Amino acid sequence: MKHIVILTGAGISAESGLKTFRDSDGLWEGYNIEEVATPQAWKRNPVLVQDFYNMRRKAVLEAKPNAAHIALARLEEKYKVTIITQNIDDLHERGGSTNVVHLHGIITRSQSSKNPNYTYPIDGWELKMDEVCELGSPLRAHVVWFGEAVPMIETAMDICNRADIFILVGTSLAVYPAASLISYVGHEITKYVVDPKIPPIYNLIGLIKIEEKASIGVPILVDKLLNDLK
Ligand code: APR
Repeated sequence: MKHIVILTGAGISAESGLKTFRDSDGLWEGYNIEEVATPQAWKRNPVLVQDFYNMRRKAVLEAKPNAAHIALARLEEKYKVTIITQNIDDLHERGGSTNVVHLHGIITRSQSSKNPNYTYPIDGWELKMDEVCELGSPLRAHVVWFGEAVPMIETAMDICNRADIFILVGTSLAVYPAASLISYVGHEITKYVVDPKIPPIYNLIGLIKIEEKASIGVPILVDKLLNDLK
């Protein structure tokens, strides 16, 4: 079975009502990222950070997978599929995909503020300030903040290295190390990108560009890839 690897970003969830990061003047739901998504912010103002992620979690729980998430799941009928997502929502899973790597964590889980390896499911949208992990430290959202290590990056590099087909959807490729993953995909591998504003990808020979919103472009591409095996 051919292995399709898909790297997704905020653009795939935009049509589910979850805002992207860089389409809104550098603000994220009205916040400067440094105020809410760094270890320093958590130290400075944990209540603000907790509230911010509680609001994001609420929005994620209310959102539904769109046609793009659902179409990607159909690829599993004929391909081995691995989705590497930078998104902290769970819309790929709810759209039916069974093999999803969350590079930047997932907002429906909490993690120990002492040891990121201790993670737990969150019941509902609210993580309260007095909730602690089994080590006795406060719980925070299970997301990778700016300035923190990306524990899944080596796994993701290895997956990209083993791709037979590679697809990018809805990412500006502005954030490293995620943006470097493309360089682990073999030169000879067919690569597609679906984005209304194609990100600047240099040195990518033979890149096939689908300049469309995810809900339009992804189902078209999935139909093509499934038809290729008929
Ligand atoms: N369909 C497809 N793509 C879209 C759509 C849509 N409907 N709407 C916007 N896009 C595209 C934009 O053109 C852009 O290329 O989605 C991309 C969104 O880029 P970013 O906002 O930078 O999101 P992302 O690349 O996921 O950001 C990476 O940065 O803030 C951090 O950790 C956060 O995981 C995030 C990382």
